[in-house]
Amino acid sequence: MHNFSSIAVIGAGQMGCGIAQSIAAAGIEVKLSDATPDLAQQGLARIHLRLLGQVEKHKLQPEEADHIVANITPVPSLESIHNCDLVIEAASEDLALKLELFRKLDQYAKPEALLASNTSSLSITTIAAATRRPQNVIGMHFFNPVPVMELVEVIRGLATSDITQTRILRLSEALGKKPVCSVDKAGFVVNRILLPMLNEACFLLDEGVASATDIDSAMQLGCAHPMGPLALADFIGLDTCLAIMEVLQKELGEVKYRPAPLLRRYVAAGWLGKKTGRGFFDYND
Ligand SMILES: NC(=O)c1ccc[n+]([C@@H]2O[C@H](COP(=O)([O-])OP(=O)(O)OC[C@H]3O[C@@H](n4cnc5c(N)ncnc54)[C@H](O)[C@@H]3O)[C@@H](O)[C@H]2O)c1
Repeated sequence: MHNFSSIAVIGAGQMGCGIAQSIAAAGIEVKLSDATPDLAQQGLARIHLRLLGQVEKHKLQPEEADHIVANITPVPSLESIHNCDLVIEAASEDLALKLELFRKLDQYAKPEALLASNTSSLSITTIAAATRRPQNVIGMHFFNPVPVMELVEVIRGLATSDITQTRILRLSEALGKKPVCSVDKAGFVVNRILLPMLNEACFLLDEGVASATDIDSAMQLGCAHPMGPLALADFIGLDTCLAIMEVLQKELGEVKYRPAPLLRRYVAAGWLGKKTGRGFFDYND
């Protein structure tokens, strides 16, 4: 048993909504928070819409969708998390933002609550040090789309206790996921391998080696990847991809991790991929 009866999810973007949905589907109460009350409400509305789409396709019973939605409560501020047993932070990939959030979470969460970050690359040890309970802080890295993807990387910071890790492993399994443990090193397992490949695809496109469509087709047909690297970067979010590459470059210090200039230009233009309707491909239709 994992013993979590109420879990807060901070950040109602693509990951936060997916995490909230998966937890609610496992029968656990979720409090969903974002930078403003409106954003939290919009997050729940997006989850509802996605579930209705599944009902229409006969992949989900209407009562199951209702049950999931009923388990999620958008909350207006962080103060509303005081009863939660676990807080999962899924706000933007920005260290300063996460440090500020963890200071506040430490202040508002009950002393025994665990605090997890869904960060893709940032140091759990550094994030934990912003709190007075580093033994209760851990990385819980889900994959997009969360309700579909089975993996959760569980990342121990230097001070994370055995019991914290055990409880998060049990919860991951109760959510129907397969957890893999990693030490706290930039990018953990998946993004350390995946992001340099996506970044290299951006270099290829910038150098005119092949078109975006052909780069993606080549990797799908030649390597049996279900998605091409540029479509996958769009799906992850180009801002998130850039932030992860910057962390890999800074933490691991090797030139092979330099972010592709084209990736920077797309982010500067606000072309962040699927979530903004335009990235390497157009999603406006
Ligand atoms: N996109 C992916 O495939 C993926 C996969 C695994 C992990 N992650 C990680 O998950 C986190 C979120 O990524 P995402 O793709 O959901 O990004 P996103 O841009 O879709 O969502 C980020 C959310 O954080 C919110 N936010 C910003 N400041 C906040 C604050 N002060 N308090 C509360 N909420 C705040 C934003 O309003 C937004 O709703 C990042 O750390 C990212 O690295 C992303």
